[in-house]
Amino acid sequence: MGLIIENSRLGAPEQKLYRLVFESEAARTAQPGQFVHIRVTAAAAPLLRRPLSVAAIDAAGGRLAVYYRLKGQGTDLLSQKRPGEKLDFLGPLGRGFTVPAAGELLLIAGGVGVFPLLSLGEEAGRRGIPSVLLWGGENRAFFAAAAAVAEHIPVRRLATADGSFGDRGLVTDLLTSFLAQPRGGGAATAVRRAAACGPYPMLKAVAATARARRLPLEVSLETTMACGIGACLGCASPGRDASGAAVMRRVCLDGPVFPAEEVEWL
Ligand SMILES: Cc1cc2nc3c(=O)[nH]c(=O)nc-3n(C[C@H](O)[C@H](O)[C@H](O)COP(=O)(O)OP(=O)(O)OC[C@H]3O[C@@H](n4cnc5c(N)ncnc54)[C@H](O)[C@@H]3O)c2cc1C
Ligand code: FES
Repeated sequence: MGLIIENSRLGAPEQKLYRLVFESEAARTAQPGQFVHIRVTAAAAPLLRRPLSVAAIDAAGGRLAVYYRLKGQGTDLLSQKRPGEKLDFLGPLGRGFTVPAAGELLLIAGGVGVFPLLSLGEEAGRRGIPSVLLWGGENRAFFAAAAAVAEHIPVRRLATADGSFGDRGLVTDLLTSFLAQPRGGGAATAVRRAAACGPYPMLKAVAATARARRLPLEVSLETTMACGIGACLGCASPGRDASGAAVMRRVCLDGPVFPAEEVEWL
């Protein structure tokens, strides 16, 4: 159970973006890439909890923040909660990102897929690991509402499909051009790792690029979930184990973060 401190809209109403900050002991153990599974109402429906990624972790202050986009009934009910109300959630749940011990971290985000990457960039920064954010969004209006959430990641390259903000193109275009650049300074010899979250086709394309460039990549998968704790198999997703054998994985328990080479891309 948490105590809601803030639940506010970001930017223009049509962007439907919200930040929810709450106090909870869960902040002491949460890791970047994990999620919280929120019961959005005390009423009978909707029964299923809604998963949202941990986006900011204030362990000392005992606070967590998530960002969400209004989608259907669940997120709409969540947006109606007010500061001072209790938040019924399970978590932190799942397996999060690897925080590198050295080198450079590439964060690759498609739209609202940036949210789970925010706490990873923050934690990497705390450990002195520089991050570069490559972020594709729909248009200028999206970034007008959302860009501020990633202000703590100083090096950013943004792209929109219509060219209304940042480069014209997709985040996969940003990745290709970024990887083609010569590496400078101390980073030239350092290990580079990447983490990505966004729509499935984007993740699949990023995984193909990473494989071709031998770039270690972790992806956060967003599958529909029911229990969120490994009991119902509702989130099962095909993968490969370390030996290459086909396996089914529970995204809620074995993930949501996976090494890209352990995902069976469909
Ligand atoms: C591990 C994980 C982390 C996520 N983190 C975030 C986040 O930080 N911010 C954010 O805005 N969204 C996030 N999502 C997606 C978010 O859970 C859905 O947008 C939300 O559950 C929609 O609920 P709804 O009732 O408003 O929409 P509806 O479409 O009415 O939902 C119906 C059902 O489908 C599920 N569902 C709908 N869309 C998705 C989706 N994209 N992914 C998974 N399940 C979905 C719902 O949970 C619900 O069970 C995450 C999903 C997962 C699995
Ligand atoms: S949602 Fe039930 S096993 Fe993953």
